[in-house]
Amino acid sequence: METTKNMQISAGEIPVMEPQRQFYYMDQAKKLIREREENLGRKLTAHVETFGCQMNARDSEKLRGILDTIGFVQVDTEEADFVIYNTCTVRENANNKVYGRLGTLGSYKKKHPAMMIALCGCMMQEEHVVERLKKEFRFVNLVFGTHNIFKFAELVVRALTEKKMVVDIWEGTTEIVENLPVERKYSFKSGVNIMFGCNNFCSYCIVPYVRGRERSREPKDIIREIERLVADGVVEVMLLGQNVNSYGKNLDQPITFAELLQEIEKIEGLERIRFMTSHPKDLSDELIEVMAQSKKICKHMHLPLQSGSSRILKKMNRHYDKEQYLALVGKLRAAIPDIAITTDIIVGFPGETTEDFLETMDVVKKVRYDSAFTFIYSKRSGTPAAEMEDQVPEAEVKEHFDMLLKEVQHIAAEKAKELEGQILPVLVEQVNEHDRSLLTGRLSNNSVVHFSCAADPASGADMAADTSLIGKIVDVKLVECKGFYYLGELCGSVVK
Ligand code: SAH
Ligand code: SF4
Ligand code: F3S
Repeated sequence: METTKNMQISAGEIPVMEPQRQFYYMDQAKKLIREREENLGRKLTAHVETFGCQMNARDSEKLRGILDTIGFVQVDTEEADFVIYNTCTVRENANNKVYGRLGTLGSYKKKHPAMMIALCGCMMQEEHVVERLKKEFRFVNLVFGTHNIFKFAELVVRALTEKKMVVDIWEGTTEIVENLPVERKYSFKSGVNIMFGCNNFCSYCIVPYVRGRERSREPKDIIREIERLVADGVVEVMLLGQNVNSYGKNLDQPITFAELLQEIEKIEGLERIRFMTSHPKDLSDELIEVMAQSKKICKHMHLPLQSGSSRILKKMNRHYDKEQYLALVGKLRAAIPDIAITTDIIVGFPGETTEDFLETMDVVKKVRYDSAFTFIYSKRSGTPAAEMEDQVPEAEVKEHFDMLLKEVQHIAAEKAKELEGQILPVLVEQVNEHDRSLLTGRLSNNSVVHFSCAADPASGADMAADTSLIGKIVDVKLVECKGFYYLGELCGSVVK
């Protein structure tokens, strides 16, 4: 648990200020849960299922923090007393997945009527989704959105005490509520929100509509959170925002993302700094310079391309063209030669011709990405692109998508091979899931490495992996590249 600043509140008084109000409701929820436990003669279980991006993953950690505080035991199965789906709506298939899973959950609930089901996250910010839930999925107990997730404790109390479906969706917010409990997935690394929302309105994207306008956190709050995380054993942070390069522009005392990074770099005990996502239009020379000088910022840049065609990029409202993107990559590589560059690409944006697609292929071949997420364009109602004519025929999109995927994978495998034989620092994350004698960790460039710890021959073969290394940074020799990951051997002792 990261923080539990429990406030003293006199009985009967409901605080208006946040986060005090939520601590009050956590106490209320605790009592209600305890009563249920006593009736059942066992602990209550809860399960949070996360769909979507790292923002949602971090939000789920906040939900788990509250669940833990109010007395739920967290389990890995949906056969639990309380199931929460934290949803994503960036593409249609993310959406469909939730409806499908919800059907299954409904059948389970028929057999266990006391079970509670909550839905939250980006999908809930869409009116048509909430309407459908009210009609077809009456068994859901609680529905809330992205802007009021900090109110989870209060909403749980309502769901526990009210018989009907509780729905609380806010259209937007200017509020950022801090200092609520968070339950981290990993003890040694953590996501840290530096900003919320997005102002870019790329014409295909629903995120600005469901996450609201861009809001940056105050640098002092971010620094304080990271300092606390470090004191709690964290050595790596991932700074999260839809467009981290525009961080701080709208604060009362504006500050650039590069300046924020320099402040974070000074935090003693913090070893690695990552961030995502970088919008190419706002990537400054100052940031490249700071990355090049830094000892802690990982040599990895996720720089979504979306399309290599300047014509399509204009229709996408991305504010850069093919040449500017390539020039940016050139600058990054000149300043940081061993930087890994990864990307996101959309195939089949309305009006995309084979010529446009070949421009994308051209950028892929020129940049040689270390890896790329490739997506088939998905029409999101409410976005400008959904209204555009000449949506591309499915068969053509599929053909282009397959060509792109093949090229991306081929290049990624070649790039990965280049590191074979090198000795590089690895942050050890866990014991390998398939082979207990191996440890798994990540390089600075984010690649995964499975490695053996030099076993002591005197103690016999088949040594179990040395779990004391989890959360430490160690030197590993990358013996063999297996395409997307490496097999390696521990070299010498712990680095950090
Ligand atoms: N803020 C980030 C991206 C967040 S969404 C950025 O600007 O890069 C993650 C990725 O989903 C996007 O980069 C894009 O490639 C993809 N995506 C977003 N909307 C999409 C849509 N309608 N169809 C297909 N892919 C989409
Ligand atoms: Fe979507 Fe564009 Fe904002 Fe990224 S920058 S979240 S792609 S609108
Ligand atoms: Fe999905 Fe919301 Fe993230 S729509 S990609 S979970 S911001």
